[in-house]
Amino acid sequence: MNVMVIGNGGREHAILLALKKSKRIEKLYCMKGNAGTAEIAENVDVDYMNFDAVKKYMSEHPEIDYVVVAPDDPLAMGLVDELETMGKRCFGPDKNAAIIEASKAFAKELMQKYNIPTAKSQTFDDYDKALEYLRTQGAPIVLKADGLALGKGVLVCDNLKQAEEGLKDMMLAHSFGAAGNKVVIEECMRGLKYTPGEEVSVLAFTDGTTVVPMITSCDHKRAQNGDKGLNTGGMGTFSPCPFWTEELEKEVMDTIIVPTVRAMNAEGRKFKGCLYFGLMRTDKGIKVVEYNSRFGDPETQVVLPMLKTDLLDIFEAVTDERLSDIKIEWEDGACVCVVLASGGYPLSYVKGKEITIGDVGDTVLVHAGTVLKDGKLVTNGGRVLGVVAKGKTVDDARKKVYAAIDNISWEGMSYRTDIGIKYREG
Ligand code: AMP
Ligand code: GLY
Repeated sequence: MNVMVIGNGGREHAILLALKKSKRIEKLYCMKGNAGTAEIAENVDVDYMNFDAVKKYMSEHPEIDYVVVAPDDPLAMGLVDELETMGKRCFGPDKNAAIIEASKAFAKELMQKYNIPTAKSQTFDDYDKALEYLRTQGAPIVLKADGLALGKGVLVCDNLKQAEEGLKDMMLAHSFGAAGNKVVIEECMRGLKYTPGEEVSVLAFTDGTTVVPMITSCDHKRAQNGDKGLNTGGMGTFSPCPFWTEELEKEVMDTIIVPTVRAMNAEGRKFKGCLYFGLMRTDKGIKVVEYNSRFGDPETQVVLPMLKTDLLDIFEAVTDERLSDIKIEWEDGACVCVVLASGGYPLSYVKGKEITIGDVGDTVLVHAGTVLKDGKLVTNGGRVLGVVAKGKTVDDARKKVYAAIDNISWEGMSYRTDIGIKYREG
């Protein structure tokens, strides 16, 4: 089969690397891709948010049998619907189901209606009413812009002054554009053992009826060591999550994962694809922080390398709604990904720095913001490379990753040195 992955980042490179292992793949494509995807796929220089251009390309390329839509924006705008209408088979939810990520207000209403554990919240489209509610709640408090905001639409506020300013920014100054026309004001959850609360990402394959969770992982969203500094797209991940147990998995399946898939069906929004559960173990039990309608980035970089089953078989079983026929198996051990970023990220940074790569052992370099320019590999984004290693334990994998990083450089390269060591006491 000829398979196209839509997207440009590390997640897409990681999906392509997993698909490449499938015996049934003849050729891979990536729209638009990066220097890493170009090594294993044909990069297609079409803007995937220009649906007319995507459809034109697809009608000119009937040899593409299957399309994986990986990023949130094209899912939310209905690219899967458009491609399916023209007869292409796809992996990813339709627009109707992708709303579970695209609208935080929808997600909160769904959880309230179906008793899925999450932080208490209220949604507002009126600034004065929102402000009044905020003042009755006090701090700490969390503000969330309703729509997609590049992962930046969440403000965790320690004090009321900060929260009032944040609310003004979102609702009056439109700092997140239309995404902030509606704002969710949410109780700030506390971790059972850690501050900030301990988070775990659970990605799950679902065909709308059967749902199969993947191995767990933990993200590091903040820019600096010790989970300090600004929020980013993710500075590193490791798998498995240290506080995950069989009991916790059962609780999460029974109270969160299965009820969410059923709730979406009951709402007439059957979800088919990868459903991402961002969870927090709080002092009041495990709760949902957020849903995503897609694979996580950089979670995918540590989850898919551990998959033993053919990914294309799983994707097609999801599309054809026969996921219950497939046995999904995982390797034992651990996997770590450390993200190498451009100096200054997540604020302003310079692109076009030449990347030097020496001996990286048996680590895998998953490309995010890279491009080939005059035959040279140069930086082309904030998050540039993910360095990924498997090991018997997380420590084993971490050692390999950081040894490899010693042999990678460009001007201004920055990264966290503490990926993989949190939640050690379980
Ligand atoms: P989100 O984009 O919804 O994942 O939120 C970004 C980050 O904000 C999460 O990963 C949490 O660390 C934090 N966060 C979101 N909601 C809450 C909450 N209700 N209580 C505490 N922290 C939160
Ligand atoms: N790593 C978080 C996300 O993909 O949204």
